[in-house]
Amino acid sequence: MAFDIVPLIAGNWKMNGLRASLDEVTRLKDLLKTGAASYCSIAICPPATLLAAMSTQAAGSGIAVGGQDCHQAASGAHTGDISAAMLADAGARYVIVGHSERRADHGETDALVSAKASAAIEAGLIPIICVGESEAERKAGLAAKIVGGQLAASIPDAAADADFVVAYEPVWAIGTGLTPTSAEITAMHDNLRAQLAARFGKKGATIQLLYGGSLKPGNAREILAIENVNGGLVGGASLLANDFFAIISAA
Ligand code: 13P
Repeated sequence: MAFDIVPLIAGNWKMNGLRASLDEVTRLKDLLKTGAASYCSIAICPPATLLAAMSTQAAGSGIAVGGQDCHQAASGAHTGDISAAMLADAGARYVIVGHSERRADHGETDALVSAKASAAIEAGLIPIICVGESEAERKAGLAAKIVGGQLAASIPDAAADADFVVAYEPVWAIGTGLTPTSAEITAMHDNLRAQLAARFGKKGATIQLLYGGSLKPGNAREILAIENVNGGLVGGASLLANDFFAIISAA
């Protein structure tokens, strides 16, 4: 991990969590009081139903909260959707855009992801822009090409003057217990760093590049030690405070 970039460990609760799950945040706050993980930025992206309550609960703890998706428009007739401004109003600092589950389940294209990231920036949020190849694409030797293409087309030009985060999440590693080798993660993150530097100059060298996909307490130390891995986007292991804290401590 490059030590001039403060790492970010972000939890993505996906469609998990009822109000009782906020107890995990209380537990995490207690664990963080030990000071063992003071170097890291920490965020949790709960379902939208818990966002406002979690934001209130997390106030002053160093835990930021984020949305898992936003609509690309600021407001309007979009039943069931949530705008970036609404997330910000509920206390969010971040929003995940372009997660592979949104791309797969809702047909989200790079262009739509880019529009969502623009909307997030417009609302004062930090978008966590996700990219990642499928198993078939990796097997065909296309991982670098696919992910490079997603990166180029999913980051809006507005990002040049704003904070944003990139998360590399190989689709085949999500929720499967499988992870790429350290060499594969290194190669991908080096490519992403070079591409960001080519497009955004000096700023490209400072953008947090997260790894996501079966990041667990048992593999976090090795993965988070890779240069150009500046933190993680954590699914399943973010649901329990003890596991999430172990990953935060590894950073
Ligand atoms: P898992 O950590 O459960 O594999 O999920 C990763 C992910 O999709 C985070 O956004």
